Amino acid sequence: MQWYTGNTLYDSLLIGGFVYVILILVGSFFGTAAYGGRFSGGKRNKGLKLHAKTGWVLMEIPGLIVFPIVFFMGSKSDQVVPLFFLAIWMIHYANRALITPLLMRVQPGSTSSFSFNVVIAGWITIFLHGYFNAAYISELGDQYTADWFNDPRFQIGIVIYLIGFILNIHSDSILRNLRSKNPSPDEPRYKIPYGGGFKFVTCPQYLGEILSFTGFAVMTWNLGAVFVLAMTMGNLIPRAYYTHRWFHKNFENYPKERKAVIPFIF
Ligand SMILES: NC(=O)c1ccc[n+]([C@@H]2O[C@H](COP(=O)([O-])OP(=O)(O)OC[C@H]3O[C@@H](n4cnc5c(N)ncnc54)[C@H](OP(=O)(O)O)[C@@H]3O)[C@@H](O)[C@H]2O)c1
Repeated sequence: MQWYTGNTLYDSLLIGGFVYVILILVGSFFGTAAYGGRFSGGKRNKGLKLHAKTGWVLMEIPGLIVFPIVFFMGSKSDQVVPLFFLAIWMIHYANRALITPLLMRVQPGSTSSFSFNVVIAGWITIFLHGYFNAAYISELGDQYTADWFNDPRFQIGIVIYLIGFILNIHSDSILRNLRSKNPSPDEPRYKIPYGGGFKFVTCPQYLGEILSFTGFAVMTWNLGAVFVLAMTMGNLIPRAYYTHRWFHKNFENYPKERKAVIPFIF
């Protein structure tokens, strides 16, 4: 992987980005992002809070904007391999920014659990990784000729990506269907999920997201994608640990053999 691209802005921001990852990792020892019923901090968290759907759309929508703007400024934006990565990115972020939030089933009375601070932190990450990947793929990287489709890194990466993406969508769907379409206020907010990746881990949706970005980093072979992967792992592995601990505390009959996020290991 190319560490110095020769573009001072890009290289400096990338170094800053990896320093930011270390700060996120250190911060994860003190807690996880304030959104969702388990971790929003309830009334103790005084800052501005948004409805869950609004929070998700607002936080993730720059993923659908920054990448294509930077991408189409690049001189290789009409080439087939860069265009393929653009398509993967847009599908990924259409799911994250629009489909998942709009399908989300929100418990009545829990309408404002998404901290605005989380939206701001999300924007910093999304602006950075949108810029890193789009600039590299359509301008700074020189490996993306049509031959790249025959490269083992591309072929292994796309397989990992697809496994992760399918696992993520399937697990999100199991969680969504634990709640009725229009939940009554007395319906229990949380239930134990079963089936699919939940046979092995508490958070297969996070494992799927981590695998997707692992696949993206392998198939694009660029440090900007390693940055996204590091941020995703830095956020989701600690959150999976906190979620796992929460289930054990709140459900006596929680399956003992399940790990938090990495099957058989953690
Ligand atoms: N790339 C990244 O860095 C990143 C970061 C965060 C999330 N994500 C992805 O975004 C998606 C959503 O993440 P998330 O952290 O919001 O996931 P989550 O905690 O699994 O929650 C998703 C939805 O399911 C509901 N839910 C969760 N557990 C439930 C249970 N046991 N019973 C009933 N309903 C339950 C939640 O309700 P409540 O809101 O009421 O809790 C929420 O509506 C995932 O696919 C995740 O991988 C990616």
